[in-house]
Amino acid sequence: MNSSKKKRIAVVTGGASGLGLAAVRKLLERGASVAIWDCSEAALEATKSTFACDGAVLTCAVDVADPASITAAAERTRAQLGDADLLVAAAAVPGPVLPFAEWSIEDFRRVIDVNLIGVHLTCQALVPAMMRAGWGRVVLVSSVAGKEGNVLQSGYVASKSGVIGYVKCLGKELATSGVLVNGIAPTVFDTPMLRQISDAGPEMIAAMKSKVPMARLGQPDEFGEMAAWLCSDACSFTTGMTFDLSGGRSTY
Ligand SMILES: NC(=O)c1ccc[n+]([C@@H]2O[C@H](COP(=O)([O-])OP(=O)(O)OC[C@H]3O[C@@H](n4cnc5c(N)ncnc54)[C@H](O)[C@@H]3O)[C@@H](O)[C@H]2O)c1
Repeated sequence: MNSSKKKRIAVVTGGASGLGLAAVRKLLERGASVAIWDCSEAALEATKSTFACDGAVLTCAVDVADPASITAAAERTRAQLGDADLLVAAAAVPGPVLPFAEWSIEDFRRVIDVNLIGVHLTCQALVPAMMRAGWGRVVLVSSVAGKEGNVLQSGYVASKSGVIGYVKCLGKELATSGVLVNGIAPTVFDTPMLRQISDAGPEMIAAMKSKVPMARLGQPDEFGEMAAWLCSDACSFTTGMTFDLSGGRSTY
């Protein structure tokens, strides 16, 4: 993103918390207007007061698994900020931490609905306008879990592997359109989602941390920096790639 050029308009799903919120901060710092799409009314209220003086922020209550909710949020964003040229899709749910045989079909479907179908619906709502404009940057958030697999998280892992495949597909499909589509695969970051998983499986978090050569958790700002770069003009010859953000854990 180059502030001497057009002011960029971003949508960040899951932008009211954790990694999405870190991306919101970095995009605002770089001069974009940002629509925060999130299903948590309480978290949206908190972000509203954080960015109270910033006319560049719009908050929208959205369930990314619900097509009607996405359509309404896209219309509101277009009316108030304009067509988005940046998308960071971070909204996701972890689902339960259970042996695969104990995952209910309802839990499995909800995780796929939010984490994978939600990404598809969000891209369908926003990317066509980027294609018409001939410029766009899309960042879809996967997970190292989607590359390597985590035990006891079958639905989550399947959804995040799906996102990596989706990034490859859209990256190639849109390669000559000016819209670049990349992914980020974080390892363990200190966010509310991590605390949700930790409550359910503390030993699993310890196992994940022990695989990180840098021997620490990731910080949300580190995610925000990578997302902001992938949203910039400086990212110009890379598409279809899911980038590692794992302290040396996944080196492929
Ligand atoms: N924290 C980690 O260690 C970690 C590791 C790998 C990948 N990730 C991924 O990073 C992304 C952000 O995770 P986080 O750790 O910041 O989690 P988080 O729980 O802090 O934030 C996720 C946000 O998504 C929102 N959300 C959930 N379901 C939604 C829905 N249906 N519609 C709209 N919004 C919805 C939540 O309200 C929340 O604000 C997720 O895609 C997650 O899978 C996180």
